[in-house]
Amino acid sequence: LKLVVLISGTGSNLRSLLEASQDAQFPARVVAIGADRDADGLALGEEFGIPTFTVPFTAFPDREAWGTELIAQVRLWEPDLVILSGLMRLVPAAVVDAFSPHLINTHPAYLPEFPGAHGVRDALAAGVDQTGASLIVVDNSVDGGPIIAQERVPVLPGDTESSLHDRIKPVERRLLIQAVLDIANSHLDLKELAR
Ligand code: GRF
Repeated sequence: LKLVVLISGTGSNLRSLLEASQDAQFPARVVAIGADRDADGLALGEEFGIPTFTVPFTAFPDREAWGTELIAQVRLWEPDLVILSGLMRLVPAAVVDAFSPHLINTHPAYLPEFPGAHGVRDALAAGVDQTGASLIVVDNSVDGGPIIAQERVPVLPGDTESSLHDRIKPVERRLLIQAVLDIANSHLDLKELAR
């Protein structure tokens, strides 16, 4: 299974995928890493010998023009699955149309709770005693697509946004790697899920 992973930040979830794919038995390969900015996680391309590309959002007149270039860049790699893993950008409809349902996103909350760019901060602010991690198919809503997998994560007294996020990320990674395995082994059909 050929994967293109899109990031905006450190790419810690991407690192987990890259480490998993070091195992020759793992039925998926990250064929390229893309970003909407000069993301720290692009350095993983160097480390793991994977091509990277950047489509800087700020270099385009609008979201649609950015999306058109992103589609072209992703298509070059002929991926079977595009993974948004810390891409902090809403993709335009053309991107969804181009790749979904083979377009999935990791989110650090128990959707539909706390969608959007600050799921961890919002859960903390809400004073809940549990939040979660979710993996969804990307559609034209904000984090409202079909849920592939999700798991509860406790919020502990004294949690900060980063301590809570650090507890959520390992769960996200586990869900992501399991989903990639299930898709590669045809135990999960995204077309079926997204019907
Ligand atoms: C992840 O929690 C992801 O779900 C969220 O942003 C975080 C990215 O972390 N959208 P990293 O860049 O993978 O370390």
